[in-house]
Amino acid sequence: MQVILTGTSQGLGLALYNILKTQNVNLVALSRRFLPEQYSDESNVENLHLIKVDLSDSSETINALSDIHFEDNVLFINNASKINPIEKIANIPAEDIINVIDLNFIAPALIINQIMKSRPRLLTVINISTGADNKVIDNWSLYCSTKAGLKMFLNVLDLENNINIIHIDPGVMDTNMQAIIRKSNFKDLSYFKQLKSNCKLKSPDEVAYDIFESYIKGRLI
Ligand SMILES: NC(=O)c1ccc[n+]([C@@H]2O[C@H](COP(=O)([O-])OP(=O)(O)OC[C@H]3O[C@@H](n4cnc5c(N)ncnc54)[C@H](OP(=O)(O)O)[C@@H]3O)[C@@H](O)[C@H]2O)c1
Repeated sequence: MQVILTGTSQGLGLALYNILKTQNVNLVALSRRFLPEQYSDESNVENLHLIKVDLSDSSETINALSDIHFEDNVLFINNASKINPIEKIANIPAEDIINVIDLNFIAPALIINQIMKSRPRLLTVINISTGADNKVIDNWSLYCSTKAGLKMFLNVLDLENNINIIHIDPGVMDTNMQAIIRKSNFKDLSYFKQLKSNCKLKSPDEVAYDIFESYIKGRLI
């Protein structure tokens, strides 16, 4: 099986990367930066491909995808995403609106489009979703709507014969995304600050392990 994973430099994506690189799979990591140890992995881990790409730039994404040879049985883990700007729509620069939509919605659609053009026997998509895709949160207009829109897009694809969609809400994790949330301004901010101060955030390593055990391990062949 070939695994395509986005956003591997930190957070949940890094934790999933660290598990998958030990599994003897053809692992393609798409990220806008890589850690020095990931560049060393390239020479030590067989079948690992690091592709540096800014997924919020659709032309760059299309270009990067054209270099990938997709296999017959592909698992695409859609992880890379951004929540900021957390702001009233009038205060968001136009280019930031485009940037979030490109990363959270357009990039995964382009990746799936390119995989399916290679006519695989099976494509499984693990979409790292969020409770916010079904919840109206003030100042989170771009994040809530792009995550909700992508979920609907994938649910439609799920009707296609050889595409299997799994949405996973990882819960609230101790990552940079939460740090950004805690520095923002919206009604329920104190809830997120309390989760951090009461040590209620999940570790991305623990979440990645659960995702691997429950949804990935059994599919690896
Ligand atoms: N954290 C939570 O509490 C939480 C809750 C529910 C759902 N989720 C979901 O979980 C997933 C992972 O979140 P996380 O908390 O691990 O986020 P994170 O710590 O912010 O990491 C996001 C990853 O995506 C990469 N990325 C961002 N912009 C990119 C771009 N333009 N091109 C390529 N890669 C890019 C980041 O790279 P850089 O290092 O270069 O920024 C990073 O590797 C997301 O889909 C998120 O919606 C998170």
